[in-house]
Amino acid sequence: MKRPTGWTDDEASGGHAPWLDIIAAESLGVRGLCCRVTLPGRTIVIDPGLALGYLRGGLMPHPVQVAVGRRVRQAIVRALETATDIVVSHFHGDHVPLVAANPYQLSFQDLPPRAGELRCWSKADDPAGPMHQRFLDLKVLFGANLRVAEGLQDGPLSFSEAVPHGKPGGKTGTVMMTRILTPRGVFVHASDIQLLNHEAVDRILDWRPDIVLAGGPPLYLEVIGPEDRQAAWNNGLRLARGVGTLILDHHLLRSRQGLAWLAELSAAAGRDIPCAADYMKKRRLLLEADRAQWYRRAPVPDNWHTDYRLGREGPDRGGQRFRAPVAQEGK
Ligand SMILES: [Fe+2]
Repeated sequence: MKRPTGWTDDEASGGHAPWLDIIAAESLGVRGLCCRVTLPGRTIVIDPGLALGYLRGGLMPHPVQVAVGRRVRQAIVRALETATDIVVSHFHGDHVPLVAANPYQLSFQDLPPRAGELRCWSKADDPAGPMHQRFLDLKVLFGANLRVAEGLQDGPLSFSEAVPHGKPGGKTGTVMMTRILTPRGVFVHASDIQLLNHEAVDRILDWRPDIVLAGGPPLYLEVIGPEDRQAAWNNGLRLARGVGTLILDHHLLRSRQGLAWLAELSAAAGRDIPCAADYMKKRRLLLEADRAQWYRRAPVPDNWHTDYRLGREGPDRGGQRFRAPVAQEGK
C-alpha cells in the first residue's frame, strides 16, 4: 500500500501518528472508542463517551476499573476543552455524554462550559427507537450547532450513510462512520460495525484509508456463532490487507479470547494489527475482560459501589489499594 509522502518513520511503520490520539477503548481500560484528530485549525473529537459495563458476570465494575475510568473521563473532557468539532457515531452510552449517566459514564455535568459551542456532527435520530431521548438531549445541548451528518461532507470530514451496528437486521440499530482527510493521509473511524457486515467494510475500502480505527466482533457474547466468527474473520482480513494501518478494539477486547483472535488475525494477514493501547504505545489494560480476576485479587467491600455513588468512597478516597495494582499491571 502506498504511503503518503512526509510520514515519520513511526507513522510509516504503523506507529502512533501525532495527529491521532485514541482516548478511550477496551484495551485502554474502558468501554468506548473515543479519539481526537488534530488538523491545522480544526480538532475533532469522535464519540466522547465511556462506560465500564455496569454488570458483567453478576459483578459491578471493580474499583480498579473505576479508577482508570475516571482518568479516561478526565482525558475526554480535556480533549473537549480545545476541540472545534464533535462527532457522534451513535447514541449508546459508551459513545455520547448522557443526561442520565451512571456514575461510571460521562454526564452532561462533566462537560466543559464551552461544549455547546462546538459543531456537532451527529448520526440521525430514530424517533421510534430507544435512543430517541439521547438525540433530543444533544439537540438541547448543541442547538443550531448540531447537524445530522449521515451522507454529508464538510471540508475534510465525510460521513457514511447509516450502516448496521453489527449484524445486518440486528436489534442494536445503526452507526455512522467518519472519514477525515488529514494532511498526512486518510483516517476512518468505524465504531461498532463489529466486522459483522460487508456493507460497512466495503464502504471503508471505498474511502481508501491510511489508518482505520474499527470495532471488532463481540466474541464474549454467546449469540456470536460460527458463521458470525467466519464473517468477522473474512472482513478483518479484507480490511487488514486493504488499508495502511488497521487498529481493532472495542467489543473485541471485552474478553481475553478477543486478544487471541487479534493475534491470529495478525498472523493470517501477515502484518501487525494493533489494538488501541498498542497503537498508543501504552500498556494493555483489559480490565473488563479480567474483572472476575480483579475481584479475587483485590476483594471489594459489599457496599463499595453504593458508597462510591454517594461520594463516600472512591479511588481518591481510601482507594489507594485499588490504584496500586493497575500501576503494576504489565502488558
Ligand atoms: Fe460501542
